[in-house]
Amino acid sequence: MYALITGASSGIGREFALQLAKRGYNIIIVARREIRLEELKKFITKHYDVDVVIKEIDLSIKEECYRLYDECKDYKIKILINNAGFGKIGYFEDIPLEEELNMINTNISAVHILTKLFLKDMNKGKILNVASIAGLQPCPTMTTYGATKSYIINFSRGLNYELKRKKKEVHVSVLCPGPVNTEFDKVANTDFSLKYISAKKCARIGLDGLFKKKEIIIPSFSIKALSLAGKFTPVKLIQPIEYYIQTRKLKK
Ligand SMILES: NC(=O)c1ccc[n+]([C@@H]2O[C@H](COP(=O)([O-])OP(=O)(O)OC[C@H]3O[C@@H](n4cnc5c(N)ncnc54)[C@H](OP(=O)(O)O)[C@@H]3O)[C@@H](O)[C@H]2O)c1
Repeated sequence: MYALITGASSGIGREFALQLAKRGYNIIIVARREIRLEELKKFITKHYDVDVVIKEIDLSIKEECYRLYDECKDYKIKILINNAGFGKIGYFEDIPLEEELNMINTNISAVHILTKLFLKDMNKGKILNVASIAGLQPCPTMTTYGATKSYIINFSRGLNYELKRKKKEVHVSVLCPGPVNTEFDKVANTDFSLKYISAKKCARIGLDGLFKKKEIIIPSFSIKALSLAGKFTPVKLIQPIEYYIQTRKLKK
């Protein structure tokens, strides 16, 4: 039984790989930094009796996503975790277009392509897409990042419903973390005012939710409370608060 995890060279993805190996899954780990994947493979094969396959892939490139599928389709993937992604804080007008297109390709197109390709081979299986709390509401100064994650949330929920109605035995969950202690902040050039959880905790809650067939998984109490409050608060009220908090970070 193989599980494929994108973005496994760091943070939440690395933890997914470790925890799935612990549960006895053979794993395919995907990222650009091969050296990190080699180190992870060494660690996992030392501690667990599972097969670990490394794929050095740049998911922002469409052809690389197709290559990943071609090289992995014969493993009969039972779990697909679309986790790779990144954000960038800044005013929309200041962030270079190329960087945003790269983000859209990684956070949206790669998830879309891999889900489309691997799903057609799955009779029974699970897909976990990693979105963010930033996708639950408009997210000024992380406008594009938030929008990519909104896509992932609605895409995952819509697809899950469709598959359920078609009685296909493939479940799709979407994970919406708040702040998690990973390399994300360094890449995005940000930090959050909310409490951080560890990548280990985030991945554990994500996997538990996936195995329990939860559609949407929010891995901490405070973020759950926030998202609930968000449901009953008009966007008109949320936006100025978010804008105030986010722009304070830009001034640092
Ligand atoms: N940390 C948070 O606070 C937080 C909150 C909500 C949602 N998330 C989401 O959680 C997911 C995992 O992020 P993280 O927090 O674990 O951050 P991270 O530590 O920076 O890990 C990101 C992973 O994505 C991979 N990646 C990025 N671009 C890639 C590309 N073009 N091709 C292949 N792999 C790529 C990176 O690998 P390489 O650089 O080696 O390619 C790395 O393994 C992301 O989707 C992120 O949006 C994070």
